[in-house]
Amino acid sequence: MAEMIRLDKYLSDMGIGTRSEIKTWIRKGRVTVNQTVCRKPETKITIGLDRIYFDNHPIHYHQYHYFMLHKPAGVVSATTDNFSKTVLDLIKEKNVKNLFPMGRLDKDTEGLLLITNDGDLAHQLLSPKKRVDKVYYAKIKGMVTSEDIQSFLEGVRIGDYKTLPAQLKILHSDTISEIELTIQEGKFHQVKRMFQAVGKEVLYLKRLSMGGLSLDPSLQAGEYRELTDHEVNLLRKIEK
Ligand code: URA
Repeated sequence: MAEMIRLDKYLSDMGIGTRSEIKTWIRKGRVTVNQTVCRKPETKITIGLDRIYFDNHPIHYHQYHYFMLHKPAGVVSATTDNFSKTVLDLIKEKNVKNLFPMGRLDKDTEGLLLITNDGDLAHQLLSPKKRVDKVYYAKIKGMVTSEDIQSFLEGVRIGDYKTLPAQLKILHSDTISEIELTIQEGKFHQVKRMFQAVGKEVLYLKRLSMGGLSLDPSLQAGEYRELTDHEVNLLRKIEK
């Protein structure tokens, strides 16, 4: 049987506003159900069947949310933290429950971070078995060389672990070099420790893409947007 929920819950699950804001908006006549204004927040809605509009915009119900965040430096990839601002503090849809970051970027790392409440998809994408490509841009202190390219291809030792083959592209080699690095795993401080292993220091780090999903260039640091259906499907393909 199709699932039924209250109209105010339907809209609040979709992150439109708080439950009390939504009740007010419904009573003011801003919501239609099947093209008729509905002023009763308690009205039962059949998900997938009833057509809900808010201020003339269709509101489709979906169980999960997926946000692409351009993580700025200075915020931690956690759901809560006693001292620092977290990536979830940047997400305004406060009433979307159980959001968490899909993986971690260091506090000083910027770039693509996915935020979701879809635990299954996150579990799959973060599984080392899936070998999802992650592409990073970095500024490195010192000259990055073709020997480094070779070392990363062969794998370097970080602690007692040998990294999988990684593709290093040198964009610019000088006293400060610029590179792009593609890795398929996500050990703690992996990129920084890989460069440490070849005697170099990462000065700046930004994640450009993950699993074929690139950071939207229109997002400034600290901004985010929902993934499109196409982008979610791209991630689901990896899941299989
Ligand atoms: N590697 C790092 O060293 N830091 C990150 O934040 C991500 C990858």
